[in-house]
Amino acid sequence: MARQPDLVRASAFMWVGLTGRPPELPIAAVFDNKWLSESAVVRRAGLGYLRVSGNSMSSEPVQVAIVGMGTVGTGVARVLLREPERIARRAGRPIVLRRAVVRDLHKAREVELPPGVLSTDVQAVIADRQVQVAVHLVGGVQPAREIMLALLESGKDVVTANKALLCECGDELFAAARRLGRTIAFEAAVAGGIPIIATVGQCLAANQILSISAILNGTSNFILTQMARENWSYQQALASAQSLGYAEADPTLDIDGTDAAQKLVLLTQLAYGVKPTLADFPRRGIDTLELADLKYAAELGYAVKLLAVSRLVSGQLEMHVQPTLLRQHAPLASIHGAFNAIAVVGDIVGETWYSGPGAGQMPTASAVVADLIDTISGRTRLTFPRLEIWRESPPFTMQPREKISSRYYLRFNVEDRPHVLADIADILGRNEISIASVIQHEAPEAAGGARALVPLVIMTHTTTAGNLQSAERELHALTALKPPHVRMPVAAG
Ligand SMILES: NC(=O)c1ccc[n+]([C@@H]2O[C@H](COP(=O)([O-])OP(=O)(O)OC[C@H]3O[C@@H](n4cnc5c(N)ncnc54)[C@H](OP(=O)(O)O)[C@@H]3O)[C@@H](O)[C@H]2O)c1
Repeated sequence: MARQPDLVRASAFMWVGLTGRPPELPIAAVFDNKWLSESAVVRRAGLGYLRVSGNSMSSEPVQVAIVGMGTVGTGVARVLLREPERIARRAGRPIVLRRAVVRDLHKAREVELPPGVLSTDVQAVIADRQVQVAVHLVGGVQPAREIMLALLESGKDVVTANKALLCECGDELFAAARRLGRTIAFEAAVAGGIPIIATVGQCLAANQILSISAILNGTSNFILTQMARENWSYQQALASAQSLGYAEADPTLDIDGTDAAQKLVLLTQLAYGVKPTLADFPRRGIDTLELADLKYAAELGYAVKLLAVSRLVSGQLEMHVQPTLLRQHAPLASIHGAFNAIAVVGDIVGETWYSGPGAGQMPTASAVVADLIDTISGRTRLTFPRLEIWRESPPFTMQPREKISSRYYLRFNVEDRPHVLADIADILGRNEISIASVIQHEAPEAAGGARALVPLVIMTHTTTAGNLQSAERELHALTALKPPHVRMPVAAG
């Protein structure tokens, strides 16, 4: 006989969204540390009683699918198969890996799945009504977008690590999830194992975030570390990163700054509620850096890092991703190898720091499984609708690029002859750029009266990108200056 609902005196419970709730917010309550869903909860005005149906605290397993069993998917499967009891305890219910999808069934996999779980059939996952949560770990934008939309439309909550997809289609995907009453969890999409999405989205919710400064691409940081430590060229350090598995065979998105910029877009949306696209802010990678610049920077007391920054300046949002000089004693300068680090300043908490492995199979799986636990336990259902992300009315406008102000490191190759330095100083001065320091090492006498080329390094005081651009137009017209012309901002502090 079916068990009748019990009327239980609730010693400790919390009602959520009982009156005036937006349609996407479900009713839920916490009772005895368990989340009760809408169907399990009946409100008795003023009494403080919960009606708890027989299966409301069900320990029925949750059926899960992994779409994309590559590096991260394999790590997720490993955790689920290795730690089922720990995960079940924390999710409130056992998790069953019911399906896993790949493109190529013949590829060797590093994890052994139960028979019948692995297939190439995404449609079977989409059509499977038993699958309640899909872990979406297909990279790129197409067909990842269509797959995620179909998973949401078929009634599944989604966990993903795909920052490229969220950066390009997040607006559409989040709107679809909200419309369908589903959730998207994406902790692993930024900084791998570092729980920065939960930190910015929830833990610092009392604050107006004032700035985010971060090393968000482990491949670039590994290459810069190797160049500085080993005196290697960029090409040597890249080859080393590839042989050690820190860089893909095609590392373009890592080393040209795109990957860091995509992650910065997600963090910025969470922190400030704005909707920047990659085209809205300056982005440069490390692929044109020369060892000489790392050495001059070191001589001046700085390290070079690929820094992603978004900060409020006079009520506007300044964003950029570029190789940047940081004081050698600055905390971000001491982040070496493939690690990531993020400094977040809030108006109430002040400056906070987070660092750790920003990618890799198990660190990323750690974040994905945490999202899975949150989704199954009901936490994501409460936090997702409240995320300050892809809002309709962004509260801040973007600062125009030419207004971004900074100190700058400049390097020119100049002919070693009289007046060159004076000409450069004159052009900089007329564009309201004042020189803080200059390095010009003595060049050997060129044979036969030829003009030797010598590197000239200039550190400026604070100026705007607009002033620097107009000075550079004039400088490039000087016949005594030969390429390359190197320019990097210098972080404050
Ligand atoms: N790797 C990391 O350290 C890391 C860190 C943070 C975030 N992420 C993000 O996590 C996501 C997954 O990364 P990953 O490194 O695990 O990628 P990956 O190793 O390339 O794995 C992708 C998986 O998706 C499968 N797949 C691709 N297209 C498919 C399709 N159309 N239908 C079904 N399956 C398909 C592939 O199948 P086959 O195996 O048969 O090719 C593979 O199993 C990406 O968005 C990435 O940016 C990765």
